[in-house]
Amino acid sequence: MASLIGRDLLSLADLSASELQQLLELASQLKSKQLQVQCNKVLGLLFSKASTRTRVSFTVAMYQLGGQVIDLHPNVTQVSRGEPIEDTARVLDRYLDVLAIRTFAQQELETFAKYAKIPVINALTDLEHPCQILADLLTIQEKFGSLSGLTLTYVGDGNNVANSLMLGCALVGMNVRVAFPSGYAPDAEIVEKARAIANIHQTQVLLTHDPEIAAKDANVLYTDVWASMGQETEANNRFPVFQPYQISAQLLSFADPEAIVLHCLPAHRGEEITHEVIEGSQSRVWDQAENRLHAQKALLVSILGGE
Ligand code: CP
Ligand code: NVA
Repeated sequence: MASLIGRDLLSLADLSASELQQLLELASQLKSKQLQVQCNKVLGLLFSKASTRTRVSFTVAMYQLGGQVIDLHPNVTQVSRGEPIEDTARVLDRYLDVLAIRTFAQQELETFAKYAKIPVINALTDLEHPCQILADLLTIQEKFGSLSGLTLTYVGDGNNVANSLMLGCALVGMNVRVAFPSGYAPDAEIVEKARAIANIHQTQVLLTHDPEIAAKDANVLYTDVWASMGQETEANNRFPVFQPYQISAQLLSFADPEAIVLHCLPAHRGEEITHEVIEGSQSRVWDQAENRLHAQKALLVSILGGE
């Protein structure tokens, strides 16, 4: 069993290649019920942004492990009335065993992790979405049997999902290409980190403005919303710029014929992906969403221990 006992997961780069592979293996064993684990602990969810999948999959994962969950929306805690993060973190860690946080600034998450003695999990920030990528890699592994040497192409905004995907793909020995409009590049420091990891595996991290070049012969096409949570006011200005970066049947025709299509969801049909493609035979988005449950259960067991 992967042992990440007591560790935080703030970035996918917190994991080594073998720790990530072991997490995926554990997730697969838990999904197939080859392994049954109990973990009678308490998870707190502190989410400042909306969530369907992350909130529900973490909750169900903990229930299935025999543990419990407390949903701590900032509006119902003193956080909304200005209690400092440093204080909140040092109080919550006296009650909880693990805390999953969804917020805006990565810095806020890091401050929580610095002051809380319990493990802190990044349940999405503006910079990264590591839990999503655990499920994505599990879904790709289920389709292709192994990950090493495959090529994933992400088309759209260089956002939190794109950042974590670059790190995740690099760690498992996949090639990753990101096609984005000018001005919407992924985070430069993360690109550098992903390239350093990819060098070890002799794989490629390619950034381009050309979605067709990026999609050519890819094994996985992936997209996400053009305006993330917190960017709603920019949405109207972004749409014309992002139009050429839609996953359509036309773009999919450049990929390998066996390619699968992923989207972290929620999806906006007619914007970043067409109705035809998301509902089409190559789409794996529902398996991908289900895998959030199995991947996060593996993460919780690895961090908290189980019996
Ligand atoms: N993909 C994802 O994180 O979905 P939610 O925002 O619904 O949690
Ligand atoms: N990039 C999106 C992902 C949602 C799961 C956002 O941050 O809103």
